[in-house]
Amino acid sequence: ASIDQFIAALPKVELHVHLEGSMQPPLLLALAEKHAVAGFSRSLREIREWYEYRDFPHFLDVYRRAVEVLRDEEDFAALAFDTARNLAAQNVRYAEVHFSLSDHLLRDIPAPVVFAGIEHGRKRAERESGIRIRWIPDFAGDYGAEAGERTLDAVLAHGPQTVLGFGVGGLEVERDQFREVFARARAAGLHSLPHAGETRGPDRVWSAIRALGAERIGHGIGSVADAELIAHLRDTQLPVDVSPTSNLRTGAVRALTQESSGAPWQSRGTEHPLPWMLEEGLLVTLNSDDPPMFGTDLNGEYRAAHRMGLDRAALTRLARNGVRASFLPERDKTALL
Ligand code: HPA
Ligand code: ZN
Repeated sequence: ASIDQFIAALPKVELHVHLEGSMQPPLLLALAEKHAVAGFSRSLREIREWYEYRDFPHFLDVYRRAVEVLRDEEDFAALAFDTARNLAAQNVRYAEVHFSLSDHLLRDIPAPVVFAGIEHGRKRAERESGIRIRWIPDFAGDYGAEAGERTLDAVLAHGPQTVLGFGVGGLEVERDQFREVFARARAAGLHSLPHAGETRGPDRVWSAIRALGAERIGHGIGSVADAELIAHLRDTQLPVDVSPTSNLRTGAVRALTQESSGAPWQSRGTEHPLPWMLEEGLLVTLNSDDPPMFGTDLNGEYRAAHRMGLDRAALTRLARNGVRASFLPERDKTALL
């Protein structure tokens, strides 16, 4: 089989993908028209151009503009269904999906509307394709700790059983300020799933671990600048959810190819450290983050990893790492391993 066929046939899980960042351009355009959102008389070609980013803050601006087309329960249901179906079509059996609850609350969309919509779409997709979806509501760190608290309040008041964790994304501000909100989330039985080390360095990852009790690290590539942190991640096998094309498209790295040899902290910010992280024995998983916004999907990330020098055995290892790092019940993990 060709490598593309091999990847397509590989049973996979997806542990780091954003619901809103999974909105395909046709749905984006349809919702913009439905709600007459200003500034969205865009063609599919214009959307592709709009999805080219100068840097990470620019990406976030575009993401937040796109999120505004989501208004009612049916919109969220359509997005959840479409997202789950696209994953299932790639032989993804299970996904833990982030969604930007703080953005919706700040736009005065009631949490029950969001939860009812995404649950509706999830159930229909699970019925029709057999995929299983669990939810990770998150807030944007740059909205502040108070926004985090209000987001968690909404989750605890209205969240369904299918919510399994709590996250923080957005601009990568200092993490210690979120200690209390994550403590409250964890006390309520939610897993701690913050972004850290996406556009910033090891200090963000250390505080995600020490202050937030992170159970996986979203991105984490900034860890490579600190040999002690790499040793810690290896020793504890704390999973790191990596998304190469996202990092390339937001400018967090300049290239995906491994052109120079040597430890990546010597070339930090240039080449993607995924192959090195795997060689170092970290529990790395491979993920798509915001697939249409980065012109990729999960199979595309496996193809990118292959172009970065990872052979079929390494790709299989990445897929198995995903199963191990997931919050699937143990018996379901065994069935996928
Ligand atoms: N990082 C932080 N926040 C986000 C991302 C991301 O990759 N995608 C959507 N919101
Ligand atoms: Zn992310």
